[in-house]
Order: sequence, then C-alpha cells, then structure tokens
Amino acid sequence: NYYAVIMAGGVGSRLWPVSTEKYPKQFHDLLGTGESLLQKTFKRINQLIPSENILIATNKCYEALVLEQLPNISTKQLLLEPVIRNTAPCILYAALKIKQQNEHAVMLVAPSDHWIENEPEFIKNIDTSLNSCTQKDMLLTLGVHPNHPNTGYGYIQFEENAAKIKKVTLFTEKPNLEKATQFLASGNYLWNAGIFVWSVVSIISAFKKHLPEMVGILDSESQLYNTPLEEEFINKNYKKCENISIDFGILEHSQKVYVLPINVGWDDLGTWNSLYKKLPKNNQQNSIVGAKSICNNASGNIVHTPHGKKVVIQGLHDFIVVEKDDVLIICPRKDEQDIKQLRAQAKDVF
Ligand code: GDD
Ligand code: MG
Repeated sequence: NYYAVIMAGGVGSRLWPVSTEKYPKQFHDLLGTGESLLQKTFKRINQLIPSENILIATNKCYEALVLEQLPNISTKQLLLEPVIRNTAPCILYAALKIKQQNEHAVMLVAPSDHWIENEPEFIKNIDTSLNSCTQKDMLLTLGVHPNHPNTGYGYIQFEENAAKIKKVTLFTEKPNLEKATQFLASGNYLWNAGIFVWSVVSIISAFKKHLPEMVGILDSESQLYNTPLEEEFINKNYKKCENISIDFGILEHSQKVYVLPINVGWDDLGTWNSLYKKLPKNNQQNSIVGAKSICNNASGNIVHTPHGKKVVIQGLHDFIVVEKDDVLIICPRKDEQDIKQLRAQAKDVF
C-alpha cells in the first residue's frame, strides 16, 4: 500500500543562472556526485518503495528530461502538469490518481532538491512514518532542528512530549526574518523538511476542508485517472486550480498536522549558500567549481564557471560569482534569497 510522489516541477530560481526554466536544479548534478538530484531522490526512495509505485510530478515541458534521467520508469508514472501551479495542486492530483488505484494507499511526498547525508536513518524514519499513517488519520511532516533564521523554510511549533511523533500546534510558512529569529530563539521550533507522509484518504479530506474548489476541479471526473483520457482531462482543468503551495494551502490551517523530528543530515539545496556548505573549499574558504582561478585577498566566495572561464578576483569576500551561458552574476552571499527577484528582473530587461 506504499506509494511515493517526487515533486520535480520547480524552477529553482534562487540557483539561477545555473538552474533555469529550461533545465532546473533537480536535473543537475550540483555537487558532482555523478547523479542528478532527481536520480538520487529516486534511488533513495526506491530502497523502500517499489519502483512502479513511485510517481514523478513535473511540468509537461520536463517530460523528456525525466525519462532520460529515469529511463526505467513508465510514462504511466508521470504526472504532467500543463501549467505551473505550485505544490498543492500536484499533490492533490497525485493523491486522487493513487486513490483510484488503491483506496488504502499511504503516500510519501518528496521534493527533488534535497540532500540527505544518512540514508539508512532516513529510510528508517520514512518506514516509521508510512506505518504510523496507515493507522492514524494525520498529515505527517518530517522536522529538522534549525540552526539559523532561514526565511525560506516552514517553521513548526509542536507539543513537547515523549512520543516520537508530535502534534503540531503552529505551522508558519516562510516567516519574515524577525519572526524566524524569534522562533529560533524560543527553542521549541523545527524546520519543515518539506517531506510529507499521509494516507490518500487523510490528505484528500484535508483538501476538501481547506481547498474545496481545488477538489471540485480535480475530483470532478476521477474515474478518468489512470485511463487514456486522463491527459485530456488534466490539460483542460489543471489550469483552473489555484496557484498555492501545500504549506500555505493546507499545513498552515489543518488541525491534523504532526511532526516526526529527524536527524539525518538534511539540507535543501535551494540556494548558493546551501551548495557552498557542501562543496570543497580551499584554504581561504573559496569554493571554486570550473576553471582555475586566481583569488588574491579573497575569501568565502563561491565561484562557479563551468564553461571554463578563468576568473581573477582580488579583495572580494563572501560573494557568489557564477557564470552560465551568457549570464554572469555577482552577488553577496548574504543576499542569496534576492536571486529569485534578480532573475525575474533579468527576464524583463534582457
Ligand atoms: N510538480 C511540481 N509542480 N513540483 C513543484 C512545483 C510545481 O508546480 N513547484 C515546486 N515543486 C517542487 C520543487 O521542485 C521542489 O522539489 C519541491 O516541490 C518544493 O518546492 P520548493 O519551491 O523548493 O519549496 P521551498 O523549498 O521554497 O519550500 C518547501 O520546502 C522547504 C524545505 O525544503 C516548503 O515545504 C517549506 O515549508 C520547507 O521548509
Ligand atoms: Mg526547496
């Protein structure tokens, strides 16, 4: 009864210009492991869940890329979104499609942009989660101990008790810096790892309660799922769904959210600093990917020039210097969250 859906439809805009709409971060081997983040995610999950029960949700335009990177999956395992609508609609679509195959299914929802250091421990936690959600009507998320006031994450306040799985009392998605700092200082908060487990019945009933219009749209002809008419139905109706993440749409509102704290060396590889942390660095703490560079009186920089451009840097500290195709970006590491806006600005100007 165990299924998984890997979400691989984001554009990874904070890792621009390496991650682009045409070739987003999940399809890149950002840390030089020999496999893309998507391939690593699939392999990790496949340790527990049979390959045929793993679905990939992505935008239609990445169909060929997914099949190229995961040649052993069948097109039946792909959920192809005709338009970008964020994570809530794709999770509801996956839940309805899985329920159509198996009403008792319990599903894991996994992003494709994560780093997990301790895979055996991670798998053990997923196994516990799938098991628990088989028995109880809950929306379970994995929680990670925070170490800095990151404004790109969800923050989870939970009931302190001896139980492994704890009831969530407050879920706050992407708070501002002031709030994030407060949460961190208060101590009893976790980051949302963005990895979820629930039965298809539990999540569909949460959508009915908190995003009923979306259920009205995607569940209107659910007998079409897993038939040749599914694609036509989705192409016609998916665009009517609200553009909203599962975090803002469901988790901030539901009373049935629970958290399992994990300690597995988790990281969201969503920003240049998250990569910087993982990449090898020289004595001056510069991380250099690409051609040879000269760095005089320069430290803490991430220099990424995969096309072989030689870089000479003097007197620069804690900067992101990344070149890809015809774009060169130079930005302080502390402003990494602004790259999303810079990319949007560049799209308008160039
Ligand atoms: N199929 C599909 N369609 N996938 C999508 C879409 C979409 O429209 N939008 C995003 N995704 C995928 C991304 O590729 C990624 O794997 C995952 O869904 C999460 O999206 P992000 O855009 O990376 O979310 P986030 O990192 O800002 O925030 C989420 O993850 C954090 C931890 O990594 C939230 O769940 C936060 O609460 C959480 O802390
Ligand atoms: Mg992310």
